[in-house]
Amino acid sequence: MTRAATPSTLSTALAAVAALAVGLAFAPTDASAGDAAAGKTLYTTNCLSCHGATGKGDGPVGAALNPKPRDFSTGDFKFDADKNGTPGEDADLTLVIKTGAAAYGGSPLMAPWPTLSDADVANVIAYVRSLKQ
Ligand code: HEC
Repeated sequence: MTRAATPSTLSTALAAVAALAVGLAFAPTDASAGDAAAGKTLYTTNCLSCHGATGKGDGPVGAALNPKPRDFSTGDFKFDADKNGTPGEDADLTLVIKTGAAAYGGSPLMAPWPTLSDADVANVIAYVRSLKQ
């Protein structure tokens, strides 16, 4: 005789599926935790002049700079600001935006943005990541 699933084994299975879903939702991905729509407003005000409307580093100010502002359409980043061996993580971008690229051997033209709150930085990172093509 086959054993029917009892309510208790069913709820154990459901709990396992729920735990897996939660685990997947929080698994690290390229997608930042911030709100890209809110980040767009911040980007347009503060970053677009250098990084450009589509993030290619070709804004009216950025076009004349050397080194050029990072091209966000490639999705490639340079600085491993937290020195954990992987550049371009949210933690790295957060540090570069908050303390400026010069702190990590980059251009002082990528200035620090101490006026942006932690939420602002997370939001602008989400928008920057959305510019990858
Ligand atoms: C005055 C021009 C200018 C402005 C304004 C500017 N940036 Fe930059 N940004 C740069 C330059 C130049 C670099 C490249 C630095 C380098 O490679 O040394 C850069 C690089 C970056 C990087 C690349 C970090 C990496 O690891 O590759 C990020 C992310 C970034 N900027 C985000 C922003 C954000 C967000 C804003 C707005 C809050 C902003 N920038 C405003 C000039 C600017």
